[in-house]
Amino acid sequence: MVSVAIINLTKTYGTTAAIKDLNLEIKDGEFFIFLGPSGCGKTTTLLCIAGLLKPDKGEVWLGNELVTSSERDVYVTPQKREVAMMFQDYAIYPHMTVFNNIAFPLEVRGEDKSEIVKRVTATANLLGLSQLLDRKPRQLSGGQRQRVALGRAIVRKPKVFLLDEPLANLDAKLRVKTRTDLKKLQRELGVTTVYVTHDQVEAMTMADRIMVQRDGVTEQIGTPEELYNHPANLFVAGFIGSPEMNFTDCTLIKEGARLWLDAREFKTPVPTQVAPKLESYVGEDLIMGIRPEDLYERKSVKGSTQKNALRMTVDIIEPVGPYLLLHLRKGRCSLVARVKHTTARVGQEVDIEMDPSKMHIFDKKTAKAII
Ligand SMILES: Nc1ncnc2c1ncn2[C@@H]1O[C@H](COP(=O)(O)OP(=O)(O)OP(=O)(O)O)[C@@H](O)[C@H]1O
Ligand SMILES: [Mg+2]
Repeated sequence: MVSVAIINLTKTYGTTAAIKDLNLEIKDGEFFIFLGPSGCGKTTTLLCIAGLLKPDKGEVWLGNELVTSSERDVYVTPQKREVAMMFQDYAIYPHMTVFNNIAFPLEVRGEDKSEIVKRVTATANLLGLSQLLDRKPRQLSGGQRQRVALGRAIVRKPKVFLLDEPLANLDAKLRVKTRTDLKKLQRELGVTTVYVTHDQVEAMTMADRIMVQRDGVTEQIGTPEELYNHPANLFVAGFIGSPEMNFTDCTLIKEGARLWLDAREFKTPVPTQVAPKLESYVGEDLIMGIRPEDLYERKSVKGSTQKNALRMTVDIIEPVGPYLLLHLRKGRCSLVARVKHTTARVGQEVDIEMDPSKMHIFDKKTAKAII
């Protein structure tokens, strides 16, 4: 088990900059996730850590060992890095039994027969494959096959796991179960894990920390809670959370001593505790963000004292399990509120309140979060 450090990493394919000056430190034993839309550079970064790809610039460190540096002309081969990589389209050998599939990397390395039996048995136990060791892949379910591929990756006791969308081939239900199993397994083994996904729910539920990438650039690194509660910019705010955060264009105005966000259809006071941070933006265009769960129907708030509810029309009501999503509209402003229940009907007007302490404010010019 080791930490992983990436310093000023850059990789360009022709004219496409896949990674632009990436800096990152992954802690020993951490479950770290690269999250971002298709083409943002996740796989490229992983391949550079594995040594399957040489970057144009920058360094990769595994613990105290420098394994890649174009400047210092260092390049350690993938075999010598002791990392295990599993791809989305993992291949397990169809003509081999589960036992032989898992044993394969040890055999290639010329391990002792008795050591191989010991290690394969232990790995199969860990993954719940003990009863299936004599079967061939075609006699297994998708999830079981996926666990065999995982078994083959972990049997070598690597220092680092690199997993590229390993659950993408599984159906939705199995993916949820395997997600939990994989996280438990990672905790038990304590192996530093770098995991790639474009699925924000997967990232939020599994990761110790997440790096959100876009177009080869890091948008934010943080724990799932940090990304959710304190997104650094509009991209992260919109990418994480489902249904996504509501965004409304507004202008910051000052009336007397009080700051207001004026969105034309409604005006909402800036909470006094954050007002000092906004003082210099008076007259500027801003974007206000509020998550659907931080909007309420006034009726459902006991003893409400807010004066500034917004009266909006209910467009659609979507039931999603324990919640309802109210799609609301007023003029050019539309919002989604997540509520537990409602008596409102489509076409009716409702008074909506927001929790001002949950408000996010972004600079429209830079897209960066101000509060
Ligand atoms: N061998 C290659 N030759 C040219 N361009 C490439 C090559 N591999 C990747 N790219 C480009 O580099 C960028 C990053 O690709 P990468 O595979 O790292 O993305 P990704 O985040 O893993 O995407 P996905 O979620 O679709 O797997 C993309 O624009 C891609 O088209
Ligand atoms: Mg990829």
